[in-house]
Parts: sequence; structure tokens; C-alpha cells
Amino acid sequence: MPTLSFLSNSISRKNLMALTGLFLCLFLVIHLAGNLQLLLPPERAQTQYNFYSQLLSHNYLIKLVSYALYLSILIHALDALILTVQNWRANGAQGYVYDRRRTASAWYSRNMGLLGSLIFVFLVIHLKDFWFQYKFGVVPMDAEGHKDIYPIVVAAYSELWYVLVYVVSLLILGFHLWHGFASAFQSLGLYHSRYGKWVKYFGWFYTIVITGGFILIPLWVYFFNY
Ligand code: HEM
Repeated sequence: MPTLSFLSNSISRKNLMALTGLFLCLFLVIHLAGNLQLLLPPERAQTQYNFYSQLLSHNYLIKLVSYALYLSILIHALDALILTVQNWRANGAQGYVYDRRRTASAWYSRNMGLLGSLIFVFLVIHLKDFWFQYKFGVVPMDAEGHKDIYPIVVAAYSELWYVLVYVVSLLILGFHLWHGFASAFQSLGLYHSRYGKWVKYFGWFYTIVITGGFILIPLWVYFFNY
């Protein structure tokens, strides 16, 4: 069957991983932009942040994009798992070669599977504490009639250990993106020798902005908002 041969083909699987990875990168830009509102003075942040969260969960088009997002996370993680297991089995003998050039490639590019798994654990914690709470928990309403998620996020970042979990997880995300961004372009065959280095530079710039921006949020709330 064509569908099954597509799924069993490790080249297509890498393409799918690259495409879902780049879609997740786009999501991170939008998610960061929305969450940077937490840096506003508390009176303004609360109204704006609650309004933004309400907008995300009540607009049908955005809801549709959210479903694509959940699917992308699952496909990206499952594909990575299958490829990692295949690499272990093949032990470097076929297709997607397990990289044993310890000096020629950085540790994070050899351990994308491990970094991805740690990010997955972070996501489970993150979604349980914020997303699940917002969608299915008992959340009081603010003065505007929006679910008051703001104090829940602020309370979470008032705990030092929780802030540290975020900072470490986001650094791990940073290493994953540092290699993953340009690697996705390579998998898709969009890594021309002339522009390749600019893709790599853009990937590094993207990684610094995204990782730095996300790390700033819990630290800011911990030191200035509570
Ligand atoms: C410190 C930074 C972050 C804050 C304050 C934050 C906050 C939130 C909140 C409040 C929600 C639930 C309400 C909503 O959808 O707006 C949410 C959902 C979500 N977050 Fe985050 N987040 C942060 C970082 C991240 C990172 C780094 C990732 C991915 C690696 C991530 C992935 C997600 C996903 C996938 C959802 C579900 C989105 C949806 O349902 O459309 N978040 N986040």
C-alpha cells in the first residue's frame, strides 16, 4: 500500500519530521509573542493575557491550527522515536546513519533523540499545569468575563524550583533548536551550498531569540511580578 510504504520509508519520515519541526518552530514564535505580555505591568498584563488566551481558544480558525499543532507534536515525537530505534538496530550500517564521529559533530546533534525526549517530558508538565488547567480546570473569571489564567501562571513562577525546571528545560529546547532548525532544511533538500550558511545563521538567531525570550518570562515573573 502506498501509505504504508511512505511510513516505512526513512527518507519520507525525516521529511515529515522536518516539516512538523518547522511548523512547531512557527508555533513557538506566536506562543512567545503572546506570552511576552506577561512582562507588562501586572494590571495591564492580566487583562491582556486573559484576553489573548480567550482569543486562542474561541476562534475556529485558531482551533483548527491548534489541532494541527497537537498532531504535529505527536508525529514529530513518534517519527523521532522510530528513527532512533532504527538507528540503534542498524548500528550505523544503513540509511540514517548513527553518528559516531564524536569529535566531528557536537554532542547535542548526536543526541537529538534524548533532547527531544526531555522536551516531551517538559511539555507534559507544561500542558498539565497550564493548558489542561485552562481548558478543563476550574478557572475563575476576571472582570472582563475571561478565564483568569494570569494568576495561575504568575503563581507557578513564584516558586524557585519551578522557575529552575523551566530554565533548564528551555536550555534543552535551545540545544535542540540550535541543531534542528538548519537540519530540517537539510532534510528537505533546501540547504544549497551558497545559502546554507545563512540558513544556519538564521537558525542560530532564531534559537537565541526564542530560547532567550522564553527563559526571560519565568525569571521576570519570579523577580519582578510577585
Ligand atoms: C515560559 C514560557 C511559557 C509560558 C508562560 C506558557 C504558557 C502557556 C499557557 C498559559 C498555555 C495554555 C493557554 C494557552 O493556550 O494560551 C500554554 C499552552 C501551550 N504551550 Fe506554553 N508557555 C510557555 C512556553 C512553552 C514552550 C517552550 C512550549 C513548547 C516547547 C510550549 C508549548 C505549549 C503548547 C503546545 C500549548 C497548547 C497550545 C494550544 O492549545 O493551542 N509552551 N502555554
